[in-house]
Parts: sequence; structure tokens; C-alpha cells
Amino acid sequence: MPTPKHGISYWNFTCNAPAFPPLSGDVHVDVAIVGAGIVGTTTARLLKDQGYSVALLDAHRAGQQATGKSTAKVTSQHSLIYQQIEQKFGMSHAQLYATAQQHGIQLIEALVGQHQIPCDLESRPAYTYTLQEQHVAQIEKEVEITQQLGLPSTLVQQCDLPFSIRAAIRYDHQFQFHPTAYVAGLAETLPGDGCHVFENSPVVDWSADHVATAQGKVHAGYIIMATHLPLGQVGGYYTRAFPKAEPVIVAKVPDTLDGMYLNVEDPNHSLRFHRNSAGDQFAIAAGTAFKPGHPDEERQHFRELEDWLTSHFNAEPVYRWVNEDYTSMDQVPFVGRSTSISNDYLVATGFSGWGLSNGSAAAIMLRDLITGTSNPWHELFDAQRFKPLAGGPKLLKESSQVLTHLVSGYLSRKRHSYDEFGNGEAAILKMDGKRIAAFKDEHGLVQAVSAVCPHMGCIVGWNETDRTWDCPCHGSRFALDGTVLHGPAVKPLGKVD
Ligand SMILES: Cc1cc2nc3c(=O)[nH]c(=O)nc-3n(C[C@H](O)[C@H](O)[C@H](O)COP(=O)(O)OP(=O)(O)OC[C@H]3O[C@@H](n4cnc5c(N)ncnc54)[C@H](O)[C@@H]3O)c2cc1C
Ligand code: FES
Repeated sequence: MPTPKHGISYWNFTCNAPAFPPLSGDVHVDVAIVGAGIVGTTTARLLKDQGYSVALLDAHRAGQQATGKSTAKVTSQHSLIYQQIEQKFGMSHAQLYATAQQHGIQLIEALVGQHQIPCDLESRPAYTYTLQEQHVAQIEKEVEITQQLGLPSTLVQQCDLPFSIRAAIRYDHQFQFHPTAYVAGLAETLPGDGCHVFENSPVVDWSADHVATAQGKVHAGYIIMATHLPLGQVGGYYTRAFPKAEPVIVAKVPDTLDGMYLNVEDPNHSLRFHRNSAGDQFAIAAGTAFKPGHPDEERQHFRELEDWLTSHFNAEPVYRWVNEDYTSMDQVPFVGRSTSISNDYLVATGFSGWGLSNGSAAAIMLRDLITGTSNPWHELFDAQRFKPLAGGPKLLKESSQVLTHLVSGYLSRKRHSYDEFGNGEAAILKMDGKRIAAFKDEHGLVQAVSAVCPHMGCIVGWNETDRTWDCPCHGSRFALDGTVLHGPAVKPLGKVD
């Protein structure tokens, strides 16, 4: 069996998209978009289609963060979301959510066709199933509501999974694709006619009329923060959308199944398959969510997912990585104007694990705000909403966990010397009153940085699979040398003497 590649996304590893240059000097455009994930890149394309000049900047490579680390199901079937929205907001808002998702999916299909993007877009049925009698009523209710909403939903008692289920919701005509190839392919269509794409260009400063990297500045009439969670503390979205990490394993399998699958109970398994151009077949699976930077939970959920894959699918793990997404307090993303800087500063975040259809729908909403086109979905997705009744208990729980991480970090017992942990291990230490995040490589060489997250001061935790320092509070991620890999932090972890 090959040694699995740790911390490498299968999608990113198998995408050979040409690189874009970093930003240098001054650039003037109508719209600056920070973040070339599915949201930023799709919005850039839609605005270019309307004649706007756009600069799209990414800290890394286009499509290689949350989007390129997802399982890449493109579906409006989001577990039991419609009964949750119906309960919190009523049927008319569940209808808005459904319509937005359907348009998001159609947009992806249309863009792939229009620009001939080679991203293995394939139509598949999607299933949300349960193994337990206690959840059957929820499945039935979801089918009833989604049929009323006009979604392609049916109730089934079995599907082609190699174990028996109690009930499932089946949607036909959903999609799966290669997410990095899609975003990178879409980004390739952008340069020209006053539009630009800049990679390896981390934005470190921004205001109502510009964004800046260490090497250059983009001046623009509109700023869109498509950075998964808006950078820094602008808009306070980190108090309304909470990071969740999930284990992902890609494993070679002898046979594939036709559909895309997700169960409603814990342990949670999201599954789809992919066949590459050489005919190799892979299962792509995500497991139960955990707080970023909690290595014990990470280990436990990876082990469980691997056991599930190998026992049911005769699978050989080849890649494994951790991905994060932000769950909004009421399960609905925040898309639109954020007043905290100006009316021309827009955001999209809180996709709750479903950012591909939601992210494409967000791009439509962002375009409509800039072009002044009315769009009924804004009422539900309003980025300025704060509805404590719809998200109150979750909000309280998450806020108290943030306080714990601010005070003491994940593990209360801190080590005090580099001798207290072995080669290939990491630890949070307390030395001379300072919190230190240290990793010792296989040869005993220690790499140490401050453990205090520069975003708002929480103590980072170890991500064993990707070998990164991840912040449990708001999901920032850092490399071993402290470099920012993922916001909302924009400054690196501090150096230690
Ligand atoms: C395990 C897992 C599986 C998932 N599977 C699915 C799925 O099957 N279907 C689905 O619909 N959703 C899925 N999701 C959710 C989905 O991946 C996300 O919601 C979606 O990709 C978010 O897109 P985005 O464009 O907002 O973020 P990203 O793709 O992360 O894009 C943001 C970009 O901003 C850039 N950036 C950040 N900071 C800066 C800066 N300072 N300067 C410049 N650029 C910056 C980043 O480099 C990044 O490229 C999954 C999530 C997880 C955790
Ligand atoms: S991401 Fe906010 S404190 Fe770390």
C-alpha cells in the first residue's frame, strides 16, 4: 500500500494550471476582489461580463484553499437545511434559499460550457440518508418540504451503498467536479480588457477605496472580501460564523458508485467518487467535524473515517488533509454589503459546508448589488443581519469556547522545555511566561513561533495531518514558520528569540 500523502489536497495536486504573476505597483480598476476561491473568481467573471474592470488577488494559488480542499459536490441538497430554514425563517425564505442554490448550480454548468473548462463536471444523483430509525421522520419531512419547493427530491428506502439504510432523500441532476480545475480554468478567462489576476499576493491592508500587498496597491470603486471569512476584524463576522475542520481522505478503490452520499447522524460521512484520465478510481470522503487545532479529535475522526472507507469500499488511502469551513449562526451565508467600512465594501461568508452552490449564488448576488439589479435573495442572505433568536444558543456556546481558548488554549497542561516532546511531534510550551508553538522535525530540529494568534490573541493548536498551527477561535491557519496560510489573521505568528 502506498504511503498516504499528508496535508496535500488531491485536487490541488492534480491541477496543473498556469500561474498568474504577483501584484506589483499601482493598478486602477472598478472592482478589487480579494480571494480567488469559488466566490471571488465567479464574481470576477460575472462582473467582467457586465463590462467592469476587475482585479482578482489571491494570497496563494487560485482555487487551492477551502474550494480546492472540498469534496466538490455541486448540489442544492444540503442535508436537512430546508426544514431548518423553514423553522427559523418560514417557507418563503426556504424558497429563496432553494432558488439561489439552483441558480448557483446552473451558473457553474453554464460557465463550464461557455468557457470549455476541463473540470470533470458530471451529473450525479445526491443522497442524504439515515441509518437510524430516529431520523426517518426528519428525512420524510425534508422530502415533503423540498418537493413543495420544487426541488428534484424523492423519498427512497435504499440506494447503491454497500450497507443497508433506513431512508434517504434522493435529488436527481446534481453535479460533482474537480474544484481546483474549475476555479483555475475560470480564472484563466479573466485577464485582458482591464482585468487582472494576481497570485501569491497576500493583501495586508485595505480601506474603502484600495487593497494593498507588500509590493503593490489596487485602487478600486468597490472592494469585495471573498477571503472565506473577511480579513481582520471588519464587520465582526467572526462572532457570527464559526470555523469547523473536517478530515478528508482520498482513497483508491476497485469500484465506484454512481451517486454522492451524506448521512445525517454522527459519525458523519460525506462521499463521492472520481475517475481520473488514466482510469484510476478514487473515493473522496470527509468525516466528522471538529474544532480546528484539536489534534486528539482530529486523530480520532481520521481513524474513524479510514476504518469506514476501508471496511465498506476496500479502499487504500492515498491523500489526506484537513479542510475548514465557517458555519453561520443560523446556517444561512452572509452575502452583501458590510457597512463597517463603506457601502462599497462587500463580503460573502458562512457557507456552512455548502460553499459551491452557495458561493456561485453569492457571486450572482454580489454582481447584482454592484450593478444595481434587484435580487430577492438578499432578504435572506443579508450580510448585516443579526438574528439572535435564529442562532442564539449556538452563538453563546461558540463565544464561551472562544473565551476558553483566549485564556488557556486547547490543552491546559503546558510543557516547559523542547526536551519534553519527541521528534516528529509538536507542542504548545510555556517558557519565560510566553506561549510557544514548537515543532520538532524527524532530525530533532525545532521550529518555534509564538503560539498567540495575531488576529485576537487565542492560543493556536496543532494540526497533525497538515503540520500547521490552526486557531480554534476563528480558523486562522499558519505554517511552521508562522506565515499566514488562511485568515482572518493577516500578520504571521510572532518570532521567538
Ligand atoms: C471537508 C469539507 C468538504 C466540503 N465539501 C463541499 C462540497 O462537497 N460542496 C460544497 O458546496 N461545499 C463544500 N465545502 C464548503 C466549501 O469548500 C466552502 O464553503 C467554499 O469552498 C468557500 O469558498 P470561498 O471562495 O469562500 O473560500 P476559498 O476557496 O477559501 O477562497 C478564499 C480565497 O481567499 C484567499 N485569501 C485569503 N486571505 C487572503 C489575503 N489576505 N489576501 C489575498 N487572498 C487571500 C485564499 O488564498 C483563498 O484562495 C466543504 C467544506 C469542507 C470543510
Ligand atoms: S483567528 Fe481569531 S484569534 Fe485566532
